Amino acid sequence: MTSLPPGDRLTPATLATDENRLSALFGEVDDLLPLWIAEPYVDLAPAIVEAMRSRAGTGWYGYETRPGEVIDAFWSWASDRHGWTGSDLITTVSPSVGTTIGVLVDRLTSPGDGVILQPPVFTDFKPLVVGADREVVKNPLVITGGRYEMDLADLEARAADPANRLMILCNPHNPVGRVWSLDELVAVAEICARHDVFVIADEIHADLALAPHAWVPFASASEGTGVSWAAIHGPIKTFGIAGLCDTLMISDDEDVSAAFRDASSRFHLTRNNVFGIAAFTAGYADGAGWLDELLTLIAGNAALLRDGLPDGIELIEPEGTYLAWLDFRALGMDVPELAEWLATSARLALSPGHWFGREGAGFARMTIAAPTDRIVTAIDRLSDAVR
Ligand SMILES: Cc1ncc(COP(=O)(O)O)c(C=O)c1O
Repeated sequence: MTSLPPGDRLTPATLATDENRLSALFGEVDDLLPLWIAEPYVDLAPAIVEAMRSRAGTGWYGYETRPGEVIDAFWSWASDRHGWTGSDLITTVSPSVGTTIGVLVDRLTSPGDGVILQPPVFTDFKPLVVGADREVVKNPLVITGGRYEMDLADLEARAADPANRLMILCNPHNPVGRVWSLDELVAVAEICARHDVFVIADEIHADLALAPHAWVPFASASEGTGVSWAAIHGPIKTFGIAGLCDTLMISDDEDVSAAFRDASSRFHLTRNNVFGIAAFTAGYADGAGWLDELLTLIAGNAALLRDGLPDGIELIEPEGTYLAWLDFRALGMDVPELAEWLATSARLALSPGHWFGREGAGFARMTIAAPTDRIVTAIDRLSDAVR
């Protein structure tokens, strides 16, 4: 049994998370330990919970105009935590990351155009591209010495094809946990500028960089390169409130922002959720202490995995996100075997790597924003299953 590190103060989430999907995805397995969805499996920031109670207590849930403070709350947070001030940028509210990507793909490309993705990557990107009759163009990440990097020469070749109009960058990267460096981001910006490829930077995990790694806004990397871009932000991953509230689209491009606003107003994407407004502002105003504790918990859990995984399973060192990307390739299982083994032998509901593209085969993703005893249990189950 691995021992618990100090500082495991966050308590387990009291409500089960989306249990219905568990059996649909992993089968009817007794005592399955769910660590698969990308959200914190701990009690959420007290400031947010209190804001929900307080908003519920008003007993009034009609139309509520979104106050200007919502966007101010984000910029005050971004400036305090990341030293990023966006006074020259245009910030627009969007119901979700997927909505922003869907609208931008629709508005900035035409059917048949190529959209560059860097697999293994977040599962929603591909359907958003394919569903719009655009082509997925892969610029796979490469793993060297246990660390993922971008293949910039391949990116240059893909970007040079005039059919490829857009790239979706994930920073920090779900699922491999890279926090891209300034140099890497500048290289992406320069390549995409040279070939007139628009960059959507999904930065929804920006607050989850793990020290000593620091997240760099694509906005900063793009300066002086001439690349066109939009970045996606918001509190949904930071505070585990994806079921509750909005996200933001940020860009320096007036035309792109206007195109988004136009779609937003045509399809009424601006409808507010009164709880969402309250959660958004409360998280950014008062959630910093909770997030610091969460980051400590994640770092401690990553250390446990680093030292405690059995032979045959390796941790890909996470630089950010609360997702651990585990390498099972040495165990020599094919895709269906690994998925079955994880659920039935290890009794763990992890996201099998092939969900993120065939480049993820042989890997699995584990959420480590969870009480440490659950990570210890997961390690013990993996060790038993390997034995
Ligand atoms: C990188 C990334 N983007 C987007 C999302 C989902 O955002 P939304 O539900 O707002 O579309 C997730 C969820 O895990 C994610 O990891």
